Amino acid sequence: LKILMVSSEAVPFAKSGGLADMVGSLAKHLAGLGHDVKMLIPAYRGVDYTREESINVSVNVGFRTENTVCGRTTLAGSNVSVYLLEHPYFTERKGIYGNEEEEFFADNAKRFALLSRAAFSLLRAIDWKPDVIHSHDWPTALVPVYLRTLERNQGFEGTISLFTIHNIGYQGIFSLHDLHYTRLRLKDVCLEKGEHLEQLNFLRGGIRCADYVSTVSPQYAREIRTTRFGHGLEAELEKRREDLFGILNGIDAEIWNPETDSYLPLNYSKTSLEKKLQVKTILQEESGLSVDPGIPLIGIVSRLVEQKGFRELCGPGETALKDILDRGDCQIVILGTGEKWCEEVLRSLAAEYENLRVRIGFDEKLAHMIEGGSDFFLMPSRYEPCGLNQMYSLRYGTVPIVRRTGGLADTVISREEDPARENGFLFEEITGEAIRSAVAEAVRIYREEPDRILRMRMNGMSEDFSWNHSAERYVELYRYGLRRGRHPDT
Ligand code: ADP
Ligand code: GLC
Repeated sequence: LKILMVSSEAVPFAKSGGLADMVGSLAKHLAGLGHDVKMLIPAYRGVDYTREESINVSVNVGFRTENTVCGRTTLAGSNVSVYLLEHPYFTERKGIYGNEEEEFFADNAKRFALLSRAAFSLLRAIDWKPDVIHSHDWPTALVPVYLRTLERNQGFEGTISLFTIHNIGYQGIFSLHDLHYTRLRLKDVCLEKGEHLEQLNFLRGGIRCADYVSTVSPQYAREIRTTRFGHGLEAELEKRREDLFGILNGIDAEIWNPETDSYLPLNYSKTSLEKKLQVKTILQEESGLSVDPGIPLIGIVSRLVEQKGFRELCGPGETALKDILDRGDCQIVILGTGEKWCEEVLRSLAAEYENLRVRIGFDEKLAHMIEGGSDFFLMPSRYEPCGLNQMYSLRYGTVPIVRRTGGLADTVISREEDPARENGFLFEEITGEAIRSAVAEAVRIYREEPDRILRMRMNGMSEDFSWNHSAERYVELYRYGLRRGRHPDT
């Protein structure tokens, strides 16, 4: 198959979260299966790549034609051609969606409409007609909209679009003033009801216009059709339920492998878990915790935002994190960046508690150390489309403690579900109390039933979360879509 991936992020070029991991490794694995894969992403300032070719690409947006250039390079470890769109929107400022203060750029609608429309101009410029154009989340949600409208009869007959939702909480909602730039019609990208009247909603446009829609776990595919999780788009998704699929992400099993991980001071496997214990003591030492192999160590690596459960953990009026620390029977190490209030609360708690260490920042090495050195990994997400960290944890013999939602529910197995395959702890409620008692239970089992914890580690390490399976599922979906053809006009 010929597949074009269009995304705002892809590893190793630009990353703000799991989206980048997913797109980079899916592209690589599809190519590994023998498919012809190309990718378009923006050339943000500071992105370092070896340019093998330059292609002039003229994009029709706003009142004029933007003459841009795409640099071509090759995705390491594959034969995927990656095109990086060079335009001052991307090349002349730092940041993917916003500045370092996490404020969104005011012209994001234009930036990502340009990227989305550029996909078609690029394809014409290189004279390549894909079977599938696969785009991701609100930044490239207009790709299926263009395919269905302005680009419909422009040489892409027979090409289908797949649009993957990685997080329905971010929809790309913009002022109506931006509509002219997209050159689309109001009905393609406008929310018609309630308070969002007359605002553009890119994600909604993508859901409406894509031939096929997918999301990153089977459980999240069900959840987003409900009012609780649909963020206002549940009715749109319910309408598309026949064309909506949930495929669990894989993990990059080469980068995330405790047997070869070069960020770890020692490598280990199921048969050498004593070395994991050594990694733990090194992590304790390096992060400034007291070195004690016997005390349970809980790790967190996360964006510090509401989605990830930080309000319930340590938000205003919440005492869950403090309560856990007050018991004094475990240690916690947290790595993350995000909302300022949360960074401040965590910093001040770390100053108060010896058994809490916090690192505000983005740190690849420390992320690997935490996965390798911790006993438990906490993810109390309110919602979690897929989640990669719990899969890394399982692979590293680190027992996840998670809320039963989305991809967490699809990957972590509780004792109640299957005592023989139990690999983690799950809780239901979105409350501080639920987090507190799940952690207390995990700590109790750690002390009282070490054999059970060992079995849970082994079970996690025995699962296969590599892309082998998931990439095949995407290929099946592409083929199914090509057989069934385009989504009929409504
Ligand atoms: P999301 O995309 O919602 O943030 P995921 O679990 O899918 O959640 O992916 C998060 C990815 O980003 C993982 O690869 C994780 O290790 C990484 N990550 C998040 N925060 C940090 C950080 N502060 N430092 C290093 N890596 C981080
Ligand atoms: C989003 C989701 C996360 C998912 C990632 C990759 O950022 O929040 O759950 O793992 O996308 O699909």
